[in-house]
Amino acid sequence: MLSSVGLSLVLLLSAVGAAIVQRVGYDYYRYHPMPEITNWMTQMEKENPGVVSIVNYGKTYEGRAISLLKIGLNTGGKKKAIWMDCGIHAREWIAPAFCQYFVSQILQTYKKDPQMEKMMKDMDFYVTPVLNVDGYIYSWKDNTTRLWRKNMSPGPPGCSCYGTDLNRNFDANWGTIGVSFNCCSLIYCGSKAESEPEAQAVADFLGSRKDDFLCFLTIHSYGQLLLVPYGHPNFTASNYDELMEVGLGAAEAIKKIHGMHYTVGTSPDVLYPNSGSSRDWARMQGIPLSYTFELRDNGTFGFKLPEDQIKPACEEAYSGALHIITYAHNKTFNGAVVTAAATLWTVLLAVGVTGANQLQ
Ligand SMILES: *[C@@H]1O[C@H](CO)[C@@H](O)[C@H](O)[C@H]1NC(C)=O
Ligand SMILES: *[C@@H]1O[C@H](CO)[C@@H](O)[C@H](O)[C@H]1NC(C)=O
Ligand SMILES: *[C@@H]1O[C@H](CO)[C@@H](O)[C@H](O)[C@H]1NC(C)=O
Ligand SMILES: *[C@@H]1O[C@H](CO)[C@@H](O)[C@H](O)[C@H]1NC(C)=O
Ligand SMILES: [Zn+2]
Repeated sequence: MLSSVGLSLVLLLSAVGAAIVQRVGYDYYRYHPMPEITNWMTQMEKENPGVVSIVNYGKTYEGRAISLLKIGLNTGGKKKAIWMDCGIHAREWIAPAFCQYFVSQILQTYKKDPQMEKMMKDMDFYVTPVLNVDGYIYSWKDNTTRLWRKNMSPGPPGCSCYGTDLNRNFDANWGTIGVSFNCCSLIYCGSKAESEPEAQAVADFLGSRKDDFLCFLTIHSYGQLLLVPYGHPNFTASNYDELMEVGLGAAEAIKKIHGMHYTVGTSPDVLYPNSGSSRDWARMQGIPLSYTFELRDNGTFGFKLPEDQIKPACEEAYSGALHIITYAHNKTFNGAVVTAAATLWTVLLAVGVTGANQLQ
C-alpha cells in the first residue's frame, strides 16, 4: 500500500517535472555561455535521432573541439549542402544565438511545411553555433574581456599580444588589404594563410566536399549588412549580379518582418575593404552563394545587443537566410517546375492566348 502510494507520488512529481521542463525548454532569447551551448547541441542530437548529428571537425588553439550540427532527412541519395557558421568573432554574441534559433526553427518547420521537408531531403545543413570557441569563452570571463574578437593563440616571438582575427586568416588574397601584421591589432591576420587551427578546420572540412555546398553563410554583428564577395576592391565575383539580386531579395524579406533596413553590397562598397575572409575563401572555392550577415544593430548597442532584441533580430535574419537558401534549392532542384512552366508557356504562345506581341 505504502509503496504504491509512494510510487504514485513519484510518478505524479516526475510528470509535473517533465511538464515544467517541457514548458520552459531552452531559452533561445538569452545569451548562453559555451557549456550551455554544448549541452544544447547534445540535446538537439538526442531529441532528433537520425536527423541531427554532431560532427567534431577540428580543435581550437586551446584544444577544445570545434563542432557543428549536421541536420537533414536521410533519403539514401546524394545530397547538396548548406553551410552556416556563427561566432567566428568572439564578442558578436547575437551570432551564436542566431545559429541556435535557426536550428530550432528548421527542426520545427519541416514537420509541417512540405517545402522545408523537401529542402531537408535534398540538402544537409551544416551549422557551427560557435566557431571561435576559445574566444567566445574568454568574452564571457568578465566585463574586461567582453569585447574580445580574435582567437586565443599567442602572437609571434617578440610580440606579447594574443589572438589572430580568424576572419582575416583564410587563403583569399591573404594579407593584402584591410589587415594588420601587428599582432596586437584587432585585425591581425596571422603569420600566414590558415595559420590558425580554427580557420584550418573550416578549410579542411569544406574543402574536402566543396562541390556539395550551394551556400556559405557566415554570421556576424553588427551593422545590418549583407556582404557579398569580394572584400578586395580589385576583384569581382563572376556571379556578382546574382549575388546582389539574391541579397537584395533577402534584405526585402528581412524588412518585411520588423521593418529593419539591411544594406547589401561588397565589403569595400558598403563597409571597408578586407582580405582573408571566410566568405571570400568560400566563393573562391566555387561555392556560388557566399554571404556575410552583419546582424543588428546599427551601432546603438553594437556588440552588446540587449537580450530583448534577440527574438526580433533572429526572426528577421531567419527570413533573410531562408530566402537565400530557398533560392539555392529552387535553382538546383526545381528545374522540373521551370521546365513545366516553360512548356505551358510554349503551348499558350502556340495557341495565341497570351498577347505575346506586347510581352516580347
Ligand atoms: C563591470 O563590472 C563592475 C563590477 O562588477 C561593474 O560595476 C561595472 O558596471 C561593469 N562594467 C560594465 C561595462 O559592465
Ligand atoms: C588594385 O589595382 C590597382 C591598379 O592595378 C593597383 O594600383 C592597386 O594597388 C590594387 N589594389 C590592391 C589593394 O592591390
Ligand atoms: C542603419 O544605418 C544605415 C547607414 O547609415 C542606414 O542606411 C540605415 O537606414 C540604418 N538602419 C536603421 C534601421 O536605422
Ligand atoms: C522558390 O520556388 C517557389 C515555388 O516555385 C517560389 O514560390 C519561391 O518564390 C521561390 N523562392 C525563391 C527565393 O526563389
Ligand atoms: Zn565579425
